[in-house]
Amino acid sequence: MMAPRKRTADTSDGGGRAALKQPRTDTSHLHPSVSLVYPSLTQPSPRTVPFQRPLPLISFSYNQGRELEFSDAAMRYYIDPPPGADLGYGYDRWVRRPEEKGRLDGLLRAISETRRREASDPAIGVISWRGTMTKILTAPYEDRDGWELNIMHKNGTLYFEEFISDSRLKEKDDTAPHQRVQMYYGYAFESWCTASQPDAPSGWGGDVDTSVQWCRVVKTKLGDTRIVIGGEVDCVKNSGEKDLMVELKTSLNIRGYRDEERFEKKLLKFYFQSFLLGVPEIIVGFRTPNGQLTTVQPFKTLEIPRMVRGKPNAWDAQICLDWGDRFLTWVRKNVVWGTVTPESVWRVKFTPRVGVELTLLHDTGRMEVAAGEDRVGFLPTWYWEEICSSEHSNASSLDPTAGSVAAASNSLPRGWQI
Ligand code: A3P
Ligand code: MG
Repeated sequence: MMAPRKRTADTSDGGGRAALKQPRTDTSHLHPSVSLVYPSLTQPSPRTVPFQRPLPLISFSYNQGRELEFSDAAMRYYIDPPPGADLGYGYDRWVRRPEEKGRLDGLLRAISETRRREASDPAIGVISWRGTMTKILTAPYEDRDGWELNIMHKNGTLYFEEFISDSRLKEKDDTAPHQRVQMYYGYAFESWCTASQPDAPSGWGGDVDTSVQWCRVVKTKLGDTRIVIGGEVDCVKNSGEKDLMVELKTSLNIRGYRDEERFEKKLLKFYFQSFLLGVPEIIVGFRTPNGQLTTVQPFKTLEIPRMVRGKPNAWDAQICLDWGDRFLTWVRKNVVWGTVTPESVWRVKFTPRVGVELTLLHDTGRMEVAAGEDRVGFLPTWYWEEICSSEHSNASSLDPTAGSVAAASNSLPRGWQI
C-alpha cells in the first residue's frame, strides 16, 4: 500500500471566507482536513446560480424481491384519497425494507445502462442520490441533523455516498414503536393516494412494501457542474398527453402560527427534494396526530419559494443554490488536488450551524466504507472496472464542465433559473 503523502491543506473556500477550526475526526491527526463555513442567512445571496431543468435519462423499478429492472413496473398513478382516511391502516402488514447504507449501486447500474444505450459517455461532474443532494443544498438552514458523506473522484466525476455507520444503521432499524407508526403514516398516505392503473377507484392501493420503488434518473446542472441524480418518484398524474410526476407528503394539521412556521420550514426540504428531480407537483396530506387524514393540498413546486418569501422564518432557495455551488467547487478543488490514489475515499462531515469538513480517509476508514464487500472504495468492483476500461477509450469526456450542455443554462425555461 502506498503511504499517504503529506500535504498542506488548502483552507480557502473560494469565497474568500476564513475557514473555521473544526472538531477533529478520528482520521484528522493523520491527514489535514479542510473546512467550508456556513453562508450568512441574514444577507441575500450575493449571486444567482443557475440550475438547469432536469432532463430524464432513464427510469427503473425495484420489485418486491428488491431486484432492479429497467421498466416502469413500480410506477403508480395518483388517485384522490378517501376523505378521513386512516393512515394507520395495514400497519401490521407493512413489509419494511431494512435500513441500508447509502450505496450508489442502483444508480450506477442505471448510468451504466444509459451509457450502453446511448453508446456515449457524457461528462458528469457529480453522481448522487437525490436525498444526498437535498441534504447538501438545505444544509444552510439545517440546525439539528448532521450528516456525513463518502466521496470518490474518478475520471473527472465525483461520487457522493451518504455515510451511515453500522451503529447508526442499527439505530435507524431499531426505531422506537411510536416513531415507526409516524413513519408508516407517510407510506400509508402513498397507498391511499395511488393505484397501478390511472382510472382506478379511490381506496387502499395495496399493503405497504417499502422494497418496491419507482426511480428516475435525471441530468441537470448547478452552476458549472453537471450532475446526474437518481431518486424515487411517488406517482404520476395521467394528464392525457403525458404523465406528470407527483411527490406525496404528509404533515401535521396546522393549528396556529407555530405550526405554520414549522410547516414552512419543512417546505424547504419538500421543495428541493422535488425540484432536483424535476417533479412539478407536491401533494400534502394533512393529518391529525393519530393518523387521520384531514385535508389534501397540492403545491406547485416552483411556486413554493415565493410562498415563503417575506415570512418570519423565510428561507431563500438562492442561498441554498449558491452554497451548493460553492460546496461542489470546494470539494472538487480539494479532492482533485489532494487525491493520493484513484481509490482514495474522502469524508465530508456536516455540522449544523458550523459548516463542513473534508478529510481523506486512511486504511481503517476505507475498510469501514468497503465493509468487506466486493468494492473499490465504495464503488462496486464491476462499475470500477467498467469506468477504468472506458477511461482510455473516452479521454475527451474528462472535463465535466465543458461541452454543449453548458449552453443550455442560457435557454432554461423560466422558473428553473430561480
Ligand atoms: P412523509 O414524507 O409524508 O413523512 P418520501 O416522502 O421521501 O417519498 O418518503 C415517504 C415516507 O417515508 C415519508 O413520508 C416517511 O413516512 C418515510 N420516510 C422517508 N424518509 C424518512 C426519514 N428520514 N425518517 C423517517 N421517515 C422517513
Ligand atoms: Mg413522498
